Amino acid sequence: MKSALSTASIAATESSAPRLFGDLAPPPRTLMGPGPVDVDPRVLRAMSMPLLGQFDPVFTEYMNEVMVLYRQVYQTNNRWTLLVDGTARAGIEAVLTSVISPGDRVLVPVFGRFGHLLCEISRRCRAEVEFIETEWGTVFDPGRIEDALRRYRPKLVALVHGDTSTTMAQPLDEIGALCRRHGVLSFVDATATVSGIDLQVDAWQIDAVSAGLQKCLSGPPGSAPITFNERVEDCVLRRKHVEQGIRPPHFEPGDGPVIQSNYFDLPMLMDYWSEQRLNHHTEAASMLYAARECARLALAEGLEARFRRHRQAGAALSAGLVAMGLELFGDPAHKMPHVTGVYIPAGIEGEAVRASMLEDFGIEIGTSFGPLHGRIWRIGTMGYTCRKQNVLTCLAALEATLRRRGSDVPVGRAVDAALDVYEGVEQSAADVASG
Ligand SMILES: Cc1ncc(COP(=O)(O)O)c(C=O)c1O
Repeated sequence: MKSALSTASIAATESSAPRLFGDLAPPPRTLMGPGPVDVDPRVLRAMSMPLLGQFDPVFTEYMNEVMVLYRQVYQTNNRWTLLVDGTARAGIEAVLTSVISPGDRVLVPVFGRFGHLLCEISRRCRAEVEFIETEWGTVFDPGRIEDALRRYRPKLVALVHGDTSTTMAQPLDEIGALCRRHGVLSFVDATATVSGIDLQVDAWQIDAVSAGLQKCLSGPPGSAPITFNERVEDCVLRRKHVEQGIRPPHFEPGDGPVIQSNYFDLPMLMDYWSEQRLNHHTEAASMLYAARECARLALAEGLEARFRRHRQAGAALSAGLVAMGLELFGDPAHKMPHVTGVYIPAGIEGEAVRASMLEDFGIEIGTSFGPLHGRIWRIGTMGYTCRKQNVLTCLAALEATLRRRGSDVPVGRAVDAALDVYEGVEQSAADVASG
């Protein structure tokens, strides 16, 4: 009753004088958290292009181009390489909802927050979820995953490639083959890694992969490129049920249980993304333009060169932080180069430092979750943000902020150490070029 009254009084105030607010004027920021990151201006420009109808032949050709581009980004020949509209978890939900029938067993190796997300989504799909855990800051030995495969005999293994919550990347080169040997499907969430570190979908025999644009791909959140092979196709087509209003004559539904989500129904998305162009949702055209431009940028730079750029920035940032006397978080052998966890020094209030970095320097760095909350900051050097100037400015800003809060970090060492890394890299590139 109380809330109904207050809703009425809000409505009365709102209707008496329309409030227009000001023009949007977001302050300039450098986004150096674990994502989202700064969007490449070319992507913003692509997003401002006029809309086309989703069956306009020009637009459907753009859809085909997106499929070709993301096959290269994912290093796959999978026919089914397409976009799910929504943030990265939309891609995860589309795969899991379509693959998992109620009662199926799913194994999730959890090494951070996003492994728990895979468990949670799988449970909502009514899976029987088994998970194994390793301490945050470490990854799994494939032998442990194989033991769990033997013990639980799941239908699907779902795991994260790079978990931004811990900054760790799980090596995947053996996992797909392991799953094949045990007759299990594999799904990987590559949101944090696609185009940042190597991800060879076909060579590593991963059955389905999903991602988002807002990290190493330098795009905005809101589109989820996914790819999956015939093993997944066979599985989901057994559940194919087309909604009545668009069902073609003589349509024979699959004999498996109906996929409980209409929006995330892969067989219906496949009909929309194939020559049939069977109507489904209204395609988020501006996001498709963005996704297309993100992939074009990644491929024009070259995947290897892009991985190298991320490695260099990660090495320079880490060297700078260590030179400042700070301690890095997690197993260095498995750290993603483009997200760096660093312990908050004793006696320093982490949130106050983040607020000063934002207010004084316009730089956003990340907080952390779960067992790491209040213990580490996470600094991202991904995609368009992954540039030498940003690394140096971030180090200088952090050093100044810490000093003003009473920390006795050495003056100037951090930037010097980072420059040493960049100059060393530049020097060796020059040596290679001069033979
Ligand atoms: C590894 C990983 N998976 C999934 C997500 C979820 O992405 P979204 O917030 O775009 O749904 C994130 C977001 O940070 C992520 O880092």
